[in-house]
Amino acid sequence: MTAEDQKWSFVVAANRLPVRRVREGDAAKWVPSPGGLVSAMRPVMSGNPNAVWAGWPGVPGLGAEPFDVDGFQCHPVSVSQGELQLFYEGFSNATLWPLFHDALVPPEYHRTWWDAYRTVNQRYADTVADLAAPGAAVWIHDYHLLLVPGLLRKVRPDLRIGFFLHIPFPARELYIRLPWRTEIIDGLLGADLIGLQTPLGADNFCRAVTRITGIKTTGKTIHHNGRTTQVGAFPIGIDTERIAGLVADPAVQARAVEIRQSLGSPATVLLGVDRLDYTKGIEVRLRAFRELLAERRLSVDDCVLVQIAEPSRSQVTGYAEVRREVEQLVGDVNGNFGVMGRPVVHYLHQSHPIEELVAMYLIADVMLVTPLRDGMNLVAKEYVACRPDNTGVLVLSEFTGAAQELRAAELINPHDIEGLKSAMEAAAHRPSAEAGAAMRTMRRLVRSNTAQRWAERFLARLEASP
Ligand code: F6P
Repeated sequence: MTAEDQKWSFVVAANRLPVRRVREGDAAKWVPSPGGLVSAMRPVMSGNPNAVWAGWPGVPGLGAEPFDVDGFQCHPVSVSQGELQLFYEGFSNATLWPLFHDALVPPEYHRTWWDAYRTVNQRYADTVADLAAPGAAVWIHDYHLLLVPGLLRKVRPDLRIGFFLHIPFPARELYIRLPWRTEIIDGLLGADLIGLQTPLGADNFCRAVTRITGIKTTGKTIHHNGRTTQVGAFPIGIDTERIAGLVADPAVQARAVEIRQSLGSPATVLLGVDRLDYTKGIEVRLRAFRELLAERRLSVDDCVLVQIAEPSRSQVTGYAEVRREVEQLVGDVNGNFGVMGRPVVHYLHQSHPIEELVAMYLIADVMLVTPLRDGMNLVAKEYVACRPDNTGVLVLSEFTGAAQELRAAELINPHDIEGLKSAMEAAAHRPSAEAGAAMRTMRRLVRSNTAQRWAERFLARLEASP
């Protein structure tokens, strides 16, 4: 039997493979990708001889042979440069992403994008149909692949199909703007189990189904065409063990000391860590910080703000604008409030390895997580996991999935700048005993709902689905 003929009893499909290609001198090699999904899937996939992951290898047009990295069996799905523009940058990230994030920038509706989305989803469905053994469990991830459950069900009714949406499912009033709203619901209903990050997402989905198909849902169970689809909230967690290992690592601790010194050893470090995305509310927190400095409620003598903004989707509408706005604000704050050799905002438009991020979380007295909308936000959970002495304050937007669990955080409405300013000011001055109780509560929560438990819970529900 050749590798191509092999059939797998567990198939994962996601837009990206769990690995990325990096250059090493003249050669290129695959390394495991950082990120929540890969850590969550590692325990159920790595070293499992019956599990395979189908996804785009991250390089346009590359359709490499199946390969194995870090115990993950990878099956590349090729996406051409042209498809990347229409399917990934277009329909996935300029139609679905903004629509599902409360239309923070206007979603664009183009028939050519939709056609490419259908074509690529069909390719994924064909690939999975080919890889899956009779009766296999299939787990499809995220908004790039909303049609795959239905397309797959048509050709492989024997499969147990799960789908998880990592981003919010919007309010019905927004969702119904989508010209292809019926096709997408039909696609999703091909699954036996649909997981969302929050109970609100699950409610929104069920309400959209009823509005569009007329099918009444019974609780979170949808009966249709002689089949049943279950819907549920499965909030994703993080790999707490890995983070704990890094927190205890002397090299990471030494790096934390070094970073604090390089910032001028300020009394208070405020930190933001985000992909540079208009959903993340980076400009909101910079404006709040600027006003706090201007009103002398925070002082440049004892405060610095570090903002990590990981480059992301630079070709997609809205991303260049938010970058311009953020960088203009950083320049403005530093120009007006910085002193020679000591900027007040340290802005890095760069990706950082997790070791470096953990070193930053270790020195952050105040963590600013202020998205206008976010499916979960794992940065909030990572920060909490990096505070074993229970110090530090998490300022957290109510509009993140994480806020549903981390109720003990300093919850804010990012649209209310005065409220955000008060929370930032209070956080910078919060006595550590008071902060300690909140952090203890949040740490318990983060430890009890890890990425691994999330995957196990979802798969157990899928296994038990009728
Ligand atoms: O939040 C949704 C998500 O797809 C994550 O799963 C992923 O880490 C992130 O966005 C990055 O997206 P992209 O694949 O577009 O770089």
